[in-house]
Amino acid sequence: MSKLPKNVKIVEVSPRDGLQNEKQLIDLSTKLSLIERLGNSGIKNIEVTGFVSPKWIPQLADSSELCKNLIRKKNINYSALTPNIKGMELAIAGNIKEVAVFTAASESFTKKNINCTIKESLQRFKPVIELAKQHGIIVRGYVSCVLGCPYEGQVDTHKVAEVTEQLFKLGCYEVSLGDTIGTGTPSAAKNMLLACMNIAPLEKLALHFHNTYGQALANIYACLELGANIIDASVAGLGGCPYAKGASGNIATEDVVYMLNGMNIDTGIDFKKLVETGQWISQKLQTENNSQVGKALI
Ligand code: HMG
Ligand code: MG
Repeated sequence: MSKLPKNVKIVEVSPRDGLQNEKQLIDLSTKLSLIERLGNSGIKNIEVTGFVSPKWIPQLADSSELCKNLIRKKNINYSALTPNIKGMELAIAGNIKEVAVFTAASESFTKKNINCTIKESLQRFKPVIELAKQHGIIVRGYVSCVLGCPYEGQVDTHKVAEVTEQLFKLGCYEVSLGDTIGTGTPSAAKNMLLACMNIAPLEKLALHFHNTYGQALANIYACLELGANIIDASVAGLGGCPYAKGASGNIATEDVVYMLNGMNIDTGIDFKKLVETGQWISQKLQTENNSQVGKALI
């Protein structure tokens, strides 16, 4: 039986996941304007940057500068990635109140992305999360490659659930399940989510689906039927992971909100302003708008 939710929390990841993968360097004022426009569209959770090594991700080298110049609205949660203590210290200095640690269900991807094993990554997160707690900062966890790995192919759902469980044990309040390369299909997405639901309630599990194979919306719908109610998305479908070759953007926020609106599932987002934001950033970056809905409405 379908357990469709009444409300969905949208986590907008375009300023981080979207922009980390752009070839051209994007100026700070464009980033700040994107975040402001997203906030004005009614989005309450925005992942604004990553405190990662600038050698690894040059696009986010301005993370501290961005935090200094960010005009924060009271009711918006601005979050950032922190892979290690150094990142956490920078996040504290940047007055960030929610951070995210990130690992994967695949060893090869973890090595390529954060230069350690899964076990080492979890050990590394322990002091990061402790430090966050001392500063009243909440921590989200990411598991990448939950429906396939660019290096290892198929990924066992038990491994996904195991890593997810470890992240909760370390103190994450929510874990986001990443189909990093977008190869998942609806039944696989459902089975993966069911495996994670054995260890955590749905209110703590987010869907982070990239749309590389055009399956993300179908996968989200399949998981909504189980009651999933947290969705990561990126305006204009911006994004991808530099350590997953060929990985394209996340599902476009416009496409998710259009579908949810049609199903009477509330997100609190102003759809018109959201679509305008997608068109604005696509024009600014001179890239194709990867939202089907955004394209249809131009
Ligand atoms: P490393 O090279 O093993 O680390 O990188 P290190 O500790 O040896 O440091 C190397 C250098 O980086 C040093 O500088 C450090 O100071 C510096 P040097 O002495 O050579 O001048 N450094 C830092 N600088 C700024 N901020 C930091 C930091 N840490 C070290 N936090 C590390 C290890 C984890 C740092 C590196 O691998 C890294 O930054 N990786 C990030 C990769 C990344 O951001 N990937 C994309 C995000 S994940 C993703 O997209 C997936 C997701 O969307 C979900 C999904 O779709 O599946 C979340
Ligand atoms: Mg991602």
